[in-house]
Amino acid sequence: MNSEAKALLWLVTFALISILCASMVTKEELYHEERNSLIQLRDSLSSIVNLHSNWTGPPCYKGRSRWIGITCSGSNVAGIVLEGIQLTGSLPPDALSNVTYLSNLSLRNNALHGNLPNLDGLMYLQIVDLSLNRFSGSIPTELTNVPQLNDLQLQDNLLNGTIPPFNQSGLFSFNVSHNFLSGPVPETEVLKSFPKNSFDHNLGLCGDVIGKPCNEARPVPPAAPPRAPVSPRHAPAATAHAPAAKTGATPSKAGPSALQLHRNSQLEAWKLVAIAIGAAMVPIILFCLFMYFHRRNKNSKQDEELLGIPMAYFEKADKSSGSKEQKGGELEFFNKEKATFDTDSLLRSSAVVMGKGGLGITYRVTIELGPVVTVKRLRNVSAVGRKEFMQQLQLLGKLRHENLVEIIAYNYSQEEKLIIYDYVPGSSLCQLLHDNKGAGRTPLPWASRLSVVKGIARGLTYLHQCLPFHKVPHANIKSSNIIISNNYHYPKITDYGLQPLLPHVHRLAVARSPEYSESKKSTCKSDVYCFGLLILEVVTGKVPTENPEEVPMPQWIRLALKNEWSTDVLDLEMVSEVENHEDMLKLVEIALECTELDPDKRPKMTEVAKKIEEIKEPRSGRNSWV
Ligand SMILES: *[C@@H]1O[C@H](CO)[C@@H](O)[C@H](O)[C@H]1NC(C)=O
Ligand SMILES: *[C@@H]1O[C@H](CO)[C@@H](O)[C@H](O)[C@H]1NC(C)=O
Ligand SMILES: *[C@@H]1O[C@H](CO)[C@@H](O)[C@H](O)[C@H]1NC(C)=O
Ligand SMILES: *[C@@H]1O[C@H](CO)[C@@H](O)[C@H](O)[C@H]1NC(C)=O
Ligand SMILES: *[C@@H]1O[C@H](CO)[C@@H](O)[C@H](O)[C@H]1NC(C)=O
Ligand SMILES: *[C@@H]1O[C@H](CO)[C@@H](O)[C@H](O)[C@H]1NC(C)=O
Repeated sequence: MNSEAKALLWLVTFALISILCASMVTKEELYHEERNSLIQLRDSLSSIVNLHSNWTGPPCYKGRSRWIGITCSGSNVAGIVLEGIQLTGSLPPDALSNVTYLSNLSLRNNALHGNLPNLDGLMYLQIVDLSLNRFSGSIPTELTNVPQLNDLQLQDNLLNGTIPPFNQSGLFSFNVSHNFLSGPVPETEVLKSFPKNSFDHNLGLCGDVIGKPCNEARPVPPAAPPRAPVSPRHAPAATAHAPAAKTGATPSKAGPSALQLHRNSQLEAWKLVAIAIGAAMVPIILFCLFMYFHRRNKNSKQDEELLGIPMAYFEKADKSSGSKEQKGGELEFFNKEKATFDTDSLLRSSAVVMGKGGLGITYRVTIELGPVVTVKRLRNVSAVGRKEFMQQLQLLGKLRHENLVEIIAYNYSQEEKLIIYDYVPGSSLCQLLHDNKGAGRTPLPWASRLSVVKGIARGLTYLHQCLPFHKVPHANIKSSNIIISNNYHYPKITDYGLQPLLPHVHRLAVARSPEYSESKKSTCKSDVYCFGLLILEVVTGKVPTENPEEVPMPQWIRLALKNEWSTDVLDLEMVSEVENHEDMLKLVEIALECTELDPDKRPKMTEVAKKIEEIKEPRSGRNSWV
């Protein structure tokens, strides 16, 4: 009896232990998948915060995390909150699908691009804030299946397509404003409950939810739907009335699969039908072609939304005031030779969004039978008076330098302020430095970096000489405002001299200078500071931090130099060019002078440029440009 009881006891203990072990093993497994997902995320993004060195070891330990931005619930990751740390890159499509217990995801205020992540199957997800990024593509329909979603913030991105029919009863906060969404807003109980400004500033949303009838936006109701699928050549024209074209496109998605079924069973019949449809289409196509050319010639109002600016903005100024000085309809050119187009042709031309920043939206516009130009549509400048605006633009329009993007024209109206620049084909310095990190990236060699820095220094020196009475001649020096043309010879500076027009100075790069953050004062020396930061970005390959709680880049580099880690600060991409290390560090020294905390200790732009010119460009590197 006694021995039997003992045996039973052993058995029970053994069973308990094995159950415990088994449960530990499964925990362990979950944790591995989560960690792998986060590591995948870490490696596809870059940021001013070094996630690479911080996201090491276990993400969760005893309910707490030592990883920046991660919160845990037990040993599972429950929150990923990385806000305003200049994350760049795009999210791998399924990066989060294994973070099973995720409930709070916020990546707001970064510079992420690409499609929104797939969040299907995340049963506990409540908060999704991806606002203030550069996400593009459409809002995934799967988001409507996330059961516990109660807060979705997607505003200020570049999203297009239509809004899926969200109807989760718990969804109480929702914002998709400032995107390029179009089509009818689905009339679900839940979407109806949000205020209109959740949908503001999109390309062409309509429907009862936002109180804007859908029909009005369709200029040629009978002809429009067949046109989109029939004649792709007319795509530019079709985008003019986006809502009509897009709603026309949605049903056609269902088309191919339905047709395929058909094809499998009754091929012959299908061919006949196709021929019949084709024949029936001929007159419609002819009609469309006729309408298309007719409209082009007639300068009708139907194309008015290509730039997203209603023609009325330009005309209103014209009509309401008979007098000439109030005239808002025409573009003011600075160079007669470049005055080859007018407001009309500008608004009729196809426009592509190049970027959306603090100052407004930038478009590349291909003028019909004319040049390609860059159009900057300023936002938040409604307070600026006409005279002030004109004076400033007259000043800037006279500037000519091989390292400045030339301003061709401007237009001032009550509702819109446009600045039209020469279009420089190429990429921004920011893109060249930070995009496509990882495999497949072509590294940017030292020679290229040096010649870019030299060009910028020349351009800035010119600007400082030409705008001597300005408090800060450029005021917005940062890598995204430097365009490197495709032939690589001249880096061109853009976005200069706009500070006097902007009430919100804090949006400009000049706000990074220490004197600005302390006393809200800025001078030419603040430009020098920003230029110093730019050099550091070029040499280290890291984006300078704007987070006040982080060690600023100049200090961090000073620290590194003091500790003899000097080559640690150099961008890994050019560390192999050992023979140039000395010159690279010379440039770092110049940058550190530019970023002295005390503005009086910083050199003037002319001196900076002179010192930089003294650094010789390596012979071998020359070829890398061509
Ligand atoms: C990551 O950074 C945070 C905040 O700076 C710090 O508290 C933590 O110890 C770091 N973790 C690791 C593993 O270095
Ligand atoms: C998620 O985990 C499963 C199981 O380990 C794995 O097969 C899959 O590749 C993971 N998905 C991602 C996107 O990492
Ligand atoms: C989600 O993250 C935000 C940003 O840090 C925080 O304010 C909020 O309290 C978090 N919500 C939950 C439910 O954890
Ligand atoms: C959204 O934009 C992408 C890329 O710009 C384009 O390929 C796609 O067709 C657009 N989708 C819709 C629905 O307009
Ligand atoms: C949305 O949800 C509500 C309440 O759960 C339900 O009454 C309604 O039928 C659903 N669908 C739409 C299209 O509103
Ligand atoms: C949506 O976002 C925009 C832009 O950030 C903001 O102006 C608006 O107030 C927001 N609406 C709601 C309902 O939160």
